[in-house]
Amino acid sequence: MTNQKLSPETGRAAMLALLKEKSPLGPLKVMAKHVGRFFQIPLPMFKPYVVFGPGAVRKVLVTERDKVLWRNTDPVTDLLGRGVLIVDGEEHDQYRALMEPPLHPSRLPDYTQMMIQQTDRVSCQWKDGETVDMLIESRKIALLIIMQTLFSKDVWDDLRIIWKPILKAIEYISPGAWIIWRNIPRFGFRKPLKQLDDYLFGIIEKRRKEERKENDLLQHLIDAGLTNQVIRDQMLTMMIAGHDTSTALLAWTFALLGQHPKIHLQVIDEVDHAEKPQLLDRVIKESLRLYPPIHIGNRRIAEEMDFDGNKIPKDERMFYSIYLTHRDPEIWENAEDFCPERFSHGRKTPPMSYIPFGGGPRACIGAAFGQAEARIVMAHLLRTYTFEFTNHPIHAHMGATLEPRPGVRMKIYKRALAAVSGGEDAA
Ligand code: HEM
Repeated sequence: MTNQKLSPETGRAAMLALLKEKSPLGPLKVMAKHVGRFFQIPLPMFKPYVVFGPGAVRKVLVTERDKVLWRNTDPVTDLLGRGVLIVDGEEHDQYRALMEPPLHPSRLPDYTQMMIQQTDRVSCQWKDGETVDMLIESRKIALLIIMQTLFSKDVWDDLRIIWKPILKAIEYISPGAWIIWRNIPRFGFRKPLKQLDDYLFGIIEKRRKEERKENDLLQHLIDAGLTNQVIRDQMLTMMIAGHDTSTALLAWTFALLGQHPKIHLQVIDEVDHAEKPQLLDRVIKESLRLYPPIHIGNRRIAEEMDFDGNKIPKDERMFYSIYLTHRDPEIWENAEDFCPERFSHGRKTPPMSYIPFGGGPRACIGAAFGQAEARIVMAHLLRTYTFEFTNHPIHAHMGATLEPRPGVRMKIYKRALAAVSGGEDAA
């Protein structure tokens, strides 16, 4: 059953879905519907296996996780070196233990004011009545926040210098022709990636010379005696994993509010009056369900695995699909609809069916941080500005994360501050 031949009907439906959704997510949904929770993508030279659903996810993330490796041979590995995201075994556990303390939920209240200040710095540049792209603006906010949190580095004045190199780094690891032709020549990356490296090495060198010790991630890495190269690998990993995901989450949440004006108004009313906005929290959860920024987990099979009689041999590539799990009609009622109320009190989702942050011992290290950040930034922006969606079509683009393309253009108006009375809590 592992090398299923696709029926012509499935092939045609997959092609139509690709044209309609302008993204490989369309054909993936067709494969899931026609073939089931286990299939192989039939690309030339690249035939990864895809699994989804709670049973398979539990195997990959928990019960049989020793049979898979996070480390692959791809541009992500080339770029991130020994980054915590793409190493295995003891090496992974050592880096992870060093990186957890600054992201522990008990530290989150320390960051609330800073998150609000960084949001204000970006929004203060907006002119009343102008149209801004919330995909771009969210990236600025998320970058300022992550660099300040993890490396005590204020990048406001450097945004102009690092912006393009960061976008190039993200492009470098995004799916592209290298998927089917691994060593395809790739032009235009050497210089910006070197600029980014120089920038990070500069931060490390400067910190090594400082007498005052910060209580941040960079300091933990330095104090652990890691080399500059390994510290750079962790910094770049955290910088990308910690801001590209938040960028996508914020941008999708704005897109969904724009597309659902009634819920948008309810959320505004709530953030104006409630100390702890519950509807906003559910909107963010539903945004993560419909458009999980990390939509697949990428693994290499270290030991043959069996999914209900379907075998994946050693050394093959396998994806567990968060996106397909989140849209499985067997788990979710009206799976394709935006319905924040599905996360209201008392409604439980089956274990391993809602996995925007993965799961098991290697679940996202920034899960609590990322959610608190989204709540704080969204609530603050909705309290201080009105956002009018310009009603343009949006599709999900498969880059390093799932992004709303061509962006989320919204007309903004400054709100009278007198209307603002809600609290701005991370909890
Ligand atoms: C909305 C925000 C975020 C989402 C949706 C998200 C999603 C995920 C997912 C799904 C995984 C597991 C991937 C897999 O199983 O292959 C993961 C892992 C990871 N995330 Fe996040 N993430 C977010 C924010 C962050 C932040 C803020 C940071 C850092 C500050 C971060 C750092 C990491 C790291 C280092 C890992 C690898 C952990 C390990 O392998 O031990 N993420 N993330």
